[in-house]
Amino acid sequence: MPNSWTPQSWKQFPILQQPHYSDKDSLGGILDSLSALPPLVFAEEVKALRSSLADVADGKAFILQGGDCAESFTEFSEEHIESMVKVMLQMAVTLTFAGKCPVVKIGRMAGQFAKPRSADMEEQGGVSLPSFRGDNVNQIEFTEAGREPDPERLRMAYHQSASTLNLLRALTRGGFASLKNVRQWNSDAVDNTALSEQYGDLSSRIHDSLEFMESCGINVDDFSKLQGTAIYTSHEALLLDFEQAMLRKQDDGWYDLSAHMLWIGERTRQLDHAHVEFLRGVENPIGVKIGPTADVEEITKLANLLDPENTPGKLIFITRVGAEGAYEKLLELFERMKQLDRKIIWICDPMHGNTVKASSGYKTRKFEDILSEVQAFFRAHKAAGTWPGGIHLEMTGRNVTECTGGAFNLSDEELSNCYDTQCDPRLNASQSLELAFLIAEQLREN
Ligand code: PEP
Ligand code: CO
Repeated sequence: MPNSWTPQSWKQFPILQQPHYSDKDSLGGILDSLSALPPLVFAEEVKALRSSLADVADGKAFILQGGDCAESFTEFSEEHIESMVKVMLQMAVTLTFAGKCPVVKIGRMAGQFAKPRSADMEEQGGVSLPSFRGDNVNQIEFTEAGREPDPERLRMAYHQSASTLNLLRALTRGGFASLKNVRQWNSDAVDNTALSEQYGDLSSRIHDSLEFMESCGINVDDFSKLQGTAIYTSHEALLLDFEQAMLRKQDDGWYDLSAHMLWIGERTRQLDHAHVEFLRGVENPIGVKIGPTADVEEITKLANLLDPENTPGKLIFITRVGAEGAYEKLLELFERMKQLDRKIIWICDPMHGNTVKASSGYKTRKFEDILSEVQAFFRAHKAAGTWPGGIHLEMTGRNVTECTGGAFNLSDEELSNCYDTQCDPRLNASQSLELAFLIAEQLREN
């Protein structure tokens, strides 16, 4: 790596997973216009997130990061965002109350469009076309016109992200997220189930505590932390042309204001490639996906590049090693990085190492594998004496049928009932809440 980082220095490095635009002039014009538009988030918010993440690095808080694998232009609605926010609030309050730990909430939302793919081209019936790379690049429809990368889609994604953030801010700060409403967050998707009873019990206890405080003359509305909350945004920083257009210079450095937090995917985290070069220059907190083949030497170099000053709250390693052998792999990473005195936040993505093909042909994930990787993550931290910093999930507030198992024992045959994802299979609302209760148990035992 050269010493001098600039907003364009990534262009001198090899880069993977980028679309090939045929109309370069049109791309250039759109990128210029995006760099003149208001940022999607603000640098002060990014700083607030970094300060909350410093608490996580210190073992005093837990991260809940979750949302769609890929947001879509067609699934964009008030209902979609509101149901996601509801289930995130329910999970967070469960982790805080039952797990007795403050929670930092980060959505995979308001910008999580672009997808890395295993092949550049997709073949169907003897026809070969560019792979679908997310709604901000091309269309999922397998037609020549649909699969042609269209730079106008970057602008559409920017505007959808702005609308999503607008609703997110209204929902989290406009009263809806007040703890007084804890009973109203239960969604239709979880209603009338044993899980909704468990949540009902927890929310009633919180409600009673607030009423008790008010009876004692304490006005709950005076406490901003009880009245609302922040849900920060994040996405995989994959399309570097777009991310560069969202850079804004502040007094203390460059911020990528397309989201509060950004991460580098498993397929683009090579030490001498463009994604690491680009992200080492921004002030945002940075995540890196850590797959089953990553070794200590490699991740130490990544940490040295992305967080040379070893600042608590700057760097998040998102492990996604798969349930099999997870304990041994994770224990080694946690122990060795602890020996190096690295202030890394570790969070567990139990989704991406556990994708399988169901007998019905659908790409799915088994709830039991997801839980097993989460449990291995907690056990390995306990053995290493390190802090389990959080969880990273692909989930939705809707009642989809994409992952099997869970309390309702969703079967392979039921996957076709409501399999809506644009990309990877997500936990539905009740599976997400169930997992939150199980994680709260692990947190309490920690
Ligand atoms: C993702 O988070 O959707 C993803 C593609 O993950 P990974 O880079 O870990 O495969
Ligand atoms: Co995914």
